[in-house]
Amino acid sequence: MDKIIIEGGGHLKGTVEVSGAKNAALPILAATLLTEEKCVIKNVPMLRDVHTMIKILRSLDVKVQAEQNRVIVEPKKSGQYEASYKFVSTMRASVCLLGPLLAKKKKARVSMPGGCVIGQRPVDLHIKGLKALGASIKIEHGYIAATAKRLVGKNIFLGGAYGSSVLATANVLMAAVLAKGRTLIENAACEPEIVDLADFLVKMGAKIKGQGTPLIDIEGVKRLSGATHSVISDRIEAGTYVLAAAITDGDLLIEKANIEHLSALIDKLEQVGVSVVKKGTGIHVRRKAKILKSVDVTTMPYPGFPTDMQAQMMALASVSDGISVLTEKIFPDRFMHVSELNRMGADIFLEGASAIVKGTRKLSGAPVMASDLRASAALILAGLVAKGKTEISRVYHLDRGYEKIEEKLRNIGAKIKRVKEE
Ligand code: UD1
Repeated sequence: MDKIIIEGGGHLKGTVEVSGAKNAALPILAATLLTEEKCVIKNVPMLRDVHTMIKILRSLDVKVQAEQNRVIVEPKKSGQYEASYKFVSTMRASVCLLGPLLAKKKKARVSMPGGCVIGQRPVDLHIKGLKALGASIKIEHGYIAATAKRLVGKNIFLGGAYGSSVLATANVLMAAVLAKGRTLIENAACEPEIVDLADFLVKMGAKIKGQGTPLIDIEGVKRLSGATHSVISDRIEAGTYVLAAAITDGDLLIEKANIEHLSALIDKLEQVGVSVVKKGTGIHVRRKAKILKSVDVTTMPYPGFPTDMQAQMMALASVSDGISVLTEKIFPDRFMHVSELNRMGADIFLEGASAIVKGTRKLSGAPVMASDLRASAALILAGLVAKGKTEISRVYHLDRGYEKIEEKLRNIGAKIKRVKEE
């Protein structure tokens, strides 16, 4: 297993380029199953989760070529309709194969994703939506087994205890594009990754309106053709580099970052004392204030503050002045990074689904353990600003979501390296 070693204390300066969005690329790759024609997907980040999705597609008899950041997919008629536990256990996003498999092959067997370290991850909304379209679904032997002679459009309210669901919206959308008649998804997720998926489906010939709003209107078509598409840039990766500039009192140009996708984060950073402005095809980040102010943040579905930035924001709050409160409204148990940040000198305690962060203005390097993808990013940010050496183990989580992160950080002045753990 690898670990990352950071010598903290420097200011990050220069230009860093954002990769394609993992959370857009994964459902888009799944959507290629909806056609028998060739699809070319560009700007795909070469990450562990993307490789897992490619392995699943290959296990479904699909020909996939991946070179640099381009993936060429040539699906064909095949009897395979199962995504096995071997893959799904390592990547929950594989649940979004249900919709396309059901629409195209009339049958799907996808392993139940199970819980994960950021908390419970139920699939009731996925099942509700697909059942509404006419699928019959059973949970058997740890698998979601779905069949449908034909899917028929319906009005579906897709909201749960925590609001909309990104992957349930993706699943129902991908099933509805080939269903007979019209589907209205109410309380649909508005995330940019859903818009990107819908845009790809439209290029394939799907009839979709309202993507990016809570009401998506789909008129089913008989068949979809192949298409070429370039994945949007990763707003969470971009946001992480924004915070890297902020936390190290650096000055960064973040190329290919889409400022419109980062409004909630930028609004909070304005309050903290960080300037984020559009510059060319990217954004420019630097501090306005020498000492950062505290901030209260509540995670929400898009366009609210993303849960995938909560851990990184907590690293920033740890070194600001005053008390910040970070509240989770999406995954109330997503606080595994708190104890690790505290090991680096942060002063954070949990009160229900809120973390109370007393800014200490300085952290000290320590050996810490990454528990999940975004927690790993938070520990890297903390390591960049901490005095001395931080050693982060279990960094395989990081490889699920950040393309070439050490190389990108090194190029802007970070003292960071990856070593093999004895
Ligand atoms: C996606 C993202 C993940 C992000 C999350 C929330 C991908 C591959 N992953 O995950 O990075 O953290 O959105 O922005 O795109 N829920 C239910 N029932 C369901 C499904 C979800 O109650 O059937 C709940 C969840 O437990 C959670 C909330 O709805 O509380 C939102 O989760 P959801 O949007 O579904 O997350 P994912 O799509 O799995």
